[in-house]
Amino acid sequence: MQDEVAVRVQDLVVQYGSTVAVNGLSFKVRRGEIYGLLGPNGAGKSSTIKTLVGLVEPKAGEVEVFGRSREDEMAVKSLIGYVPEDVLLFDSLTPREFLEFVASVRRLAADEANGRILQMVKAFRMESYFDSPIATLSLGTKQKVAVMAALLHDPPLLILDEPLNGLDARTSRILKELVSLHVRKGGAAIFCTHVMEVAERLCTRVGIVNHGRMVGEGTIEELRALVHADESLENIFLKVTAEEAGIEETIKALEGEGNGENGTNGENAR
Ligand SMILES: Nc1ncnc2c1ncn2[C@@H]1O[C@H](COP(=O)(O)OP(=O)(O)O)[C@@H](O)[C@H]1O
Ligand SMILES: [Mg+2]
Repeated sequence: MQDEVAVRVQDLVVQYGSTVAVNGLSFKVRRGEIYGLLGPNGAGKSSTIKTLVGLVEPKAGEVEVFGRSREDEMAVKSLIGYVPEDVLLFDSLTPREFLEFVASVRRLAADEANGRILQMVKAFRMESYFDSPIATLSLGTKQKVAVMAALLHDPPLLILDEPLNGLDARTSRILKELVSLHVRKGGAAIFCTHVMEVAERLCTRVGIVNHGRMVGEGTIEELRALVHADESLENIFLKVTAEEAGIEETIKALEGEGNGENGTNGENAR
């Protein structure tokens, strides 16, 4: 069972009008793995994930979740806990109301769901926000609610798209531990990230995506061997995606601007 394929993506092509977002991508994720889908912005990570969860129609290729194809929509949805990159919640509800709503849509037994909700509220230190309208919460707290909603039905596959954006250090650590525990129990997880550190610390295997294609795949160690020994994943990533020169130029250009009189260099970077 540990070797069971949780996700199979084969020759996937996703297109928006004339934009090719995913261009023949293939990879597999097995139970017990935390797979990092790593690549720069616009690489096609979110589009790949959206075809897995049934939000985007592929132009070509196949995706399967625990052997089920996209046509088996209800089954696939029940197997996945998904945290999108752009979290969308109901602003007028409180986290409690929202999570109870999610539990009822998922047809979870109320006492079981409530038990899980209370556990997560404690772990994520959500007590004081639990009955405030979602509209009044910070981005990080909204992220926590989205993560709780995704974990609520205890799905075997977790997919987190840029999940650590906006999360404080403590919550990030709890989330990482939750995901590690999840795969130790036989689940699988996919992390989409453009942050090398996240992949390096957390993932058991990494696929590097650029321009909708897989440009390197393997364990962190294998990826290192691909380039030079003991390099940080960041360097490997830059080399594999051949953007190092471009980035150095950009940094130089920024440094040049920073020498100007207003001194705001870097503040608008993100
Ligand atoms: N809904 C959309 N309509 C048109 N183009 C899109 C849409 N979503 C993504 N794209 C484009 O597809 C490419 C891949 O985007 P995305 O999958 O979001 O990449 P990533 O998640 O790796 O940043 C980008 O060029 C992006 O601009
Ligand atoms: Mg994305």
